[in-house]
Amino acid sequence: MNIEFKDVSYSYNGLEMALSNVSFVIHGHNIFCLSGHNGAGKSTLLKLLIKINCNYTGKIIINGRELRDWKRKDIIKKIAICFQEPVMYVDTLFNNITLGQQGISVEKLNYYIQLLDTNNFIHNNDQQQIIGKSLSLSGGQQQLISILRNIYTNKEVLIFDEPTSNLDSVVKKNFISLLDDLKESHTIILITHDSEIVNNYEQVLL
Ligand SMILES: Nc1ncnc2c1ncn2[C@@H]1O[C@H](COP(=O)(O)OP(=O)(O)OP(=O)(O)O)[C@@H](O)[C@H]1O
Ligand SMILES: [Mg+2]
Repeated sequence: MNIEFKDVSYSYNGLEMALSNVSFVIHGHNIFCLSGHNGAGKSTLLKLLIKINCNYTGKIIINGRELRDWKRKDIIKKIAICFQEPVMYVDTLFNNITLGQQGISVEKLNYYIQLLDTNNFIHNNDQQQIIGKSLSLSGGQQQLISILRNIYTNKEVLIFDEPTSNLDSVVKKNFISLLDDLKESHTIILITHDSEIVNNYEQVLL
């Protein structure tokens, strides 16, 4: 997947700029880190990318075609985003990962769960337990579910906004090694303030 931002600016209210003249190119399957200070516009950029917010100036070119000429449904077939604040639904852990969608096989999902669920929280919970009713989740557990949800989609571009902020060091390490596997077949964009991660990959600075 090729994603190019050319001189992109965006304002929510027409007064302050949330993004000013941002330009970068992401090319092919690999891991890219998007970094920048709080309020630099990283999450805003993601909302532009999947057409939640429009009316930017400049150009956003996806596989050679301007984003304005893409239908939103075609973009979200290709790009999956794990946003900063995980959203949990009143349903089982499994359904919160799959969201009733078609994704990777159950075998593959179980393999990824095994890799990331190092504290056996998914494993030890009854399949029938409902989040918000008989089951409460910690911040890290919610983050883990939302990471798995993103990976499950198997979309070409997997974007994670601050995915490791609540993960313990073992889960974080396993997540990073899993991304190294996934980059063979996906374009991965990480938004992170974690210098341990940022320094290992190609960086786009906002
Ligand atoms: N829904 C919104 N309405 C108005 N302004 C917003 C909205 N969301 C973000 N902003 C503003 O846009 C700017 C960029 O915000 P954004 O959330 O993109 O930053 P960020 O780089 O993701 O920061 P962080 O590292 O803290 O997550 C900020 O000044 C913020 O106040
Ligand atoms: Mg943000």
